Amino acid sequence: MPDFEEIASINDFGDADRLDVFLGDTPALLIRIQDQFLAIEDVCTHDGQPLTNGCIEEGAIICPRHGARFDLVTGKALCMPATKPIQTFEVEVKGQKIFVRH
Ligand code: FES
Repeated sequence: MPDFEEIASINDFGDADRLDVFLGDTPALLIRIQDQFLAIEDVCTHDGQPLTNGCIEEGAIICPRHGARFDLVTGKALCMPATKPIQTFEVEVKGQKIFVRH
């Protein structure tokens, strides 16, 4: 089982709802929804578009290229044109520090 790694601080978000990070070689997004933190691989499974600037609605991120939606907790593809899930990562917050298992 992979270990948790300290990836960021809550202060790094400023006013933003997301942070671009790398988990090893994997581009990822750390996302803050109120006081919940989530981590997803930042690559759409439809055609490789980064999800970085995708709208976040009702617990899902929408790919800016063709509109696929992915559940932020499970990674499940919720609509076409994507059919495969994105990878999600377990997040732990301790004080101001954010740890991600990868
Ligand atoms: S690349 Fe994301 S929906 Fe097509």
